[in-house]
Amino acid sequence: MASLREILSDRVSECFAASGYDSRFGPVTVSNRPELGQFQCNGALAAAKAHATNPRQIATEVSEKIAALPMIADVSIAGPGFINISLLDSYIAEHATSMSRENLGIETPAKPAKVIVDYGGANIAKPLHVGHLRAAIIGEALKRLGRAIGHDVTGDVHLGDWGLNMGMVISEIRRRHGDLPYFAENAKPPFPSESPVTAVDLEEIYPTASARCKQNPDELEAAREVTGKLQKGHPGYTALWQHIHDVSVADLRADYEKLNIEFDLWLGESDTQDRIPALIESLTQAGFAQQSQGALVVFVDEPDDTRELPPLILLKTDGAALYGTTDLATIVQRMDDFNPDLILYVVDKRQSDHFVQVFRAARKTGIVDAERTKLEHIGFGTMNGTDGKPFKTRDGGIMKLKDLIGMLVDKALEHMSGVDVARDYDDAEKAGIARMVGVAALKFGDLSNQPAKDYIFDLDRFASFEGKTGPYLLYTAVRIKSILRKAVEQGCAVGPFVAPQSAAERDVLLKLAALPDQLQTAWDQRAPHFLCDYVYELSSLFSGFYRDHHILREPDRARQASWLELSRTTLAAIELVTGILGIEIPDRM
Ligand code: ARG
Repeated sequence: MASLREILSDRVSECFAASGYDSRFGPVTVSNRPELGQFQCNGALAAAKAHATNPRQIATEVSEKIAALPMIADVSIAGPGFINISLLDSYIAEHATSMSRENLGIETPAKPAKVIVDYGGANIAKPLHVGHLRAAIIGEALKRLGRAIGHDVTGDVHLGDWGLNMGMVISEIRRRHGDLPYFAENAKPPFPSESPVTAVDLEEIYPTASARCKQNPDELEAAREVTGKLQKGHPGYTALWQHIHDVSVADLRADYEKLNIEFDLWLGESDTQDRIPALIESLTQAGFAQQSQGALVVFVDEPDDTRELPPLILLKTDGAALYGTTDLATIVQRMDDFNPDLILYVVDKRQSDHFVQVFRAARKTGIVDAERTKLEHIGFGTMNGTDGKPFKTRDGGIMKLKDLIGMLVDKALEHMSGVDVARDYDDAEKAGIARMVGVAALKFGDLSNQPAKDYIFDLDRFASFEGKTGPYLLYTAVRIKSILRKAVEQGCAVGPFVAPQSAAERDVLLKLAALPDQLQTAWDQRAPHFLCDYVYELSSLFSGFYRDHHILREPDRARQASWLELSRTTLAAIELVTGILGIEIPDRM
């Protein structure tokens, strides 16, 4: 089914056509001055230009036709020719009925797009930092949003598991346990099936190794050499790498799960190793790969560039593959496996040059047909602390995901006790609720910002049950659940909708009707923050309605049933949107 705005746009377009103007001037938008009308059409102004007539004249002619439509309550003209339109309450209720029956009005696309979301981007053996956290939160939301509106979306974590970080860790393990079989002169399988390191060990090994390499160029050189040998298939290093990989992935999975982040694919840079030689070969053959200062590169600068864009380096002087190489080979693999319409890369905006290089190289070399497959970098900004500087732990270090989760839960418990939430529940239920509240605080706090902007991670504000926060949404949704439970206990009927009688009730219905458009806009603009705005506005409008209307005490049964249907549909919309944002709602609080 079409959204209310679409239905009205079609009708108004017909009115333009019937008045002798082009129907393309008909589309309406939700009014930005609701006191003048629910919807507005600014088409008369553009039509006046195209038809060289007076806009008010056009608005008057078209308005007369709009007024005659059966669903219209009121039409007026403002200023030079803006048309304001309001719908009949009975029609609004009728539309709400179809919406609640038909998947909240969300239509599936005639031809769903095949989409890959590359997000998360954790680096094996290296602690996750808040940038990875943002990548995971925003990417997960985009993945779920695409799915909610009917696209075929696959999420891939694209692990950083093939670069110098691996060489550093392996060479540090060698320094400590040089006697392990992985380091023997002619190391050959079979190797021990048990990993010599745990996830906890790795938390310490990488920072130590990286500090050592920073201080000592010889250590760095050694790590490079190990990386090179690993990439060329050294059996001992490969076996050790596999252990490090598996241990890290198990640990990452567990952490991501606590944040409701689920990847379909756990592929990484290393999964491109088989493809790299053939890729290099074919790019060289075709003349796309060229020697430059000892390295093999693809030039990606274009005549209109306003600043110099360095070439994408395929192979360094020592023959090692780099970040750009694995990204290019990953596109080859994704084209083979999925032939997607779109690949979204949710990665820190400071990597934007890298993605310009990779995307240009992919198009230039014909790996991707630009007409067929879109490549987009969704660059996000930095998460700053309340001091305005990139978020760190109190001792200035990088916050580990586990510690962050612990911090979220503690903060959630603090705010819960402040408002008497879950006070008398047993510890297990309380802990479950605290996790949901904490995750809601974090995710809503993050996602309510435009992705590209830096934002301040102010957990105290995010965890509050008041204002535009995740916990406030949970609270509203849980309250609706409780109303619906009580209604069932009291044997009340739910639905159908009847025409709204108050402004508060009408406002909720109109907000609900806007849901499909909101989802589409948020997807088109890759902007989950629109959904945060929407779900917060919907929740506030519902709270206002609930304040003024005593649903369970309403004597008029038909009204009560309609209000309960309104409650149920609002809950469904909140659940849908919070689900997209990766936020879970408890049954009670
Ligand atoms: N591992 C990278 C990093 O930590 C992010 C990977 C993003 N995805 C990609 N296809 N390059 O910066």
